[in-house]
Amino acid sequence: MKSINLLTTILLILFSIPFSIGQNVTIPIETENVATVLKTDENNRLKMVYFGKSLSDGNEYNQTGDVFNFRSEGAASNNNAYAVAGIDNNFVEPAIAVIHVDGNNSLDLLYDSHTTSKTADGAILTTVTLKDPVYPFVVDLHYKAWKDKDVIEQWNVIRHTEKGNVILNKYASANLYLNNKDYHLTSYNGAWAKEMQPVETHLRQGMHTIESRLGTREHLLTSPNFMLSLDGKSTETSGTVMMGQLAWTGNFALQFETDVNKNLHIVAGINPYQSAYHLKPNTPFETPRFIYTLSFEGKGKGSRNLQDWLREHNLLDGQGERLTLLNNWEATYFDFDQDKLVSLFGGAKELGVDMFLLDDGWFANKYPRNDDTAGLGDWDVNKKKLPDGVPFLVRAAEKEGVKFGIWIEPEMVNPESELYENHPDWVIKQEQRPEIYFRSQLVLDLTNPEVQDFVFGVVDDLFTENPTLAFIKWDCNAPIFNGHSSYLERENIPQSHLYVEYSRGLQSVLERIRAKYPKVPMMLCSGGGGRSDYNLLKYFTEFWLSDNTDPLERVFMQWNYSYYYPAITMCNHVTNWSKDKSLKYRVDVASMGKLGFDIRANELSERDMKFAQQTVANYNDYKDVLWHGDMYRLVDPYENDMASLMYVNEQKTEAVMFSYLTNWRYLAETSTRPVKLKGLDKDKRYRVTEINLYEGERSPVDHQKVYSGEFLMNVGFNPMVDSYRASVVIKIESVQ
Ligand code: GLA
Repeated sequence: MKSINLLTTILLILFSIPFSIGQNVTIPIETENVATVLKTDENNRLKMVYFGKSLSDGNEYNQTGDVFNFRSEGAASNNNAYAVAGIDNNFVEPAIAVIHVDGNNSLDLLYDSHTTSKTADGAILTTVTLKDPVYPFVVDLHYKAWKDKDVIEQWNVIRHTEKGNVILNKYASANLYLNNKDYHLTSYNGAWAKEMQPVETHLRQGMHTIESRLGTREHLLTSPNFMLSLDGKSTETSGTVMMGQLAWTGNFALQFETDVNKNLHIVAGINPYQSAYHLKPNTPFETPRFIYTLSFEGKGKGSRNLQDWLREHNLLDGQGERLTLLNNWEATYFDFDQDKLVSLFGGAKELGVDMFLLDDGWFANKYPRNDDTAGLGDWDVNKKKLPDGVPFLVRAAEKEGVKFGIWIEPEMVNPESELYENHPDWVIKQEQRPEIYFRSQLVLDLTNPEVQDFVFGVVDDLFTENPTLAFIKWDCNAPIFNGHSSYLERENIPQSHLYVEYSRGLQSVLERIRAKYPKVPMMLCSGGGGRSDYNLLKYFTEFWLSDNTDPLERVFMQWNYSYYYPAITMCNHVTNWSKDKSLKYRVDVASMGKLGFDIRANELSERDMKFAQQTVANYNDYKDVLWHGDMYRLVDPYENDMASLMYVNEQKTEAVMFSYLTNWRYLAETSTRPVKLKGLDKDKRYRVTEINLYEGERSPVDHQKVYSGEFLMNVGFNPMVDSYRASVVIKIESVQ
């Protein structure tokens, strides 16, 4: 009897080891102000038990889960840190769903171990390894926390050692579980020339999904950016708000599932649409990063967190300089030749911008690129238009004192091209079905290494021929239709890998480009703003927001983009899209980003030219504050008849403020009240000067007056915006 008891005791001790480990493991992931807490339960499953303010006593994190009643396991909620499909204690949306080699479609993931370390770039990386107790299948959850930015990057590595391929039907990057009560989601719809249109959704019970299935040009209809207020609506300065995006160049899905207990389950990752991935043994699959911040001081702080993080840790040359430019797209479209272009270089010089950017239409001979129906893919210079080639243009621009940049769209092909004739198998299409075109073009198959070499070659050849080429505008105008790759077919790789391998192919081309040409600025463009993900912004210095350059539309669009991107990334051009708006309004709006012009400079009146020159000089004077400073949104055009934003340098000695009329009605409320400034030093004294004025124009702003920061932030300053002063740019400088 005694020995049986002893045996039972030993067995109990042995069996209780994993359980007690499970009960005891608390994993806090912390930044300055935010903490995510993961904890194992009595079954050794990893749960997300807390997402909120960080605590000063780290020992208290292990109690955070105890004060919530999660009603997990078998009920309506499940706070798993990575929800699985196929075992019966999970009824919520899975983050991962697999079919094992033996056909079994269940997965259970138990906590195995975790590590926390400092990364070379200064973040804290926590990796938690989860293992299936039955199959040799492992998921490493990664959380990279940027302490002073309150930004977290989350992704996973999925691996196995089964004897064959495991099919991943779903493989999300992140799974979060929130216990707040009143969720307001802002997501963004779009279309060509209508990018980043915000939509607010009050999340109640059920599933709300933001997703893209376009393959390329993936943000055309939906943006992967989101803003989620957790406890009722937040404002610029108050409320708890989570903001971020899935950093993936391809199909994405962000799922927001609210349960009966008002808990919110977020699953974010590559869109599983047509994308079952057959994972070989010992071949880790890394998901893209889900990147977010949590602010307890409203949207303004959230934006500054993301903008700072992007500039310091993700964006190519985020701390560097950018080139102002004159572009010829709207000035000439396809209708130009060598002489005409050279005659435009003088305009760039006269305006005082750094560079001339040659847009579409400079290439292809057998099927010349005279409109968008032919020539795409044939990257030889068009001899008829440009007999002396690109090197001549580069030299001629440089002689004029401006740098030279060029447009390419290397991922695409027109059926009417030599490239298509010579390599029909390089094109994504369903051989047995009619081809479907978008802007008369098709997408090249970047899963194919030969195509990757070709795309790399387009850039490499340009730089080899023109070592001083200063800039590339990389366009991408078509989504993927009829998704089928003859390369994958030849290689016996499932077609359902197409979207993932396309994106990886593109990324590997960009890695090669950046290994050889690390810093040359490149603009990411996609038939307007079809691409702006943080993943591509590792390789690009800036992006094109939209082909819509109507300045009134732009005020709203730039406002929306500003939640996620710093001004240094946003290319804004002054064009004739909306000539009814004054040149001043157009320039002032375009100045709130990376300034460019796309006009026939020689057609400007002398007075307009003088004005434009002055605005470029002003821009050069304040661009450092704009590009590298802190941004504050002051007056929301969605709630007022004007918009107002400002940028302040780190020392709080210099700032620039932009205000724009957005409602031309007589009843519009604009200059009736002052605008309260933000981000200044209350104890400093500031001189306020209006800039971007026409010669001889008098400003109602008294340039002699000096205000304290306290006054400007508490009482405010009135830029006096009205229909006669539809845009006002103010320079703010501290005085001794
Ligand atoms: C796209 C871009 C434009 C321009 C044209 C050229 O539409 O968004 O800026 O470059 O292509 O064809």
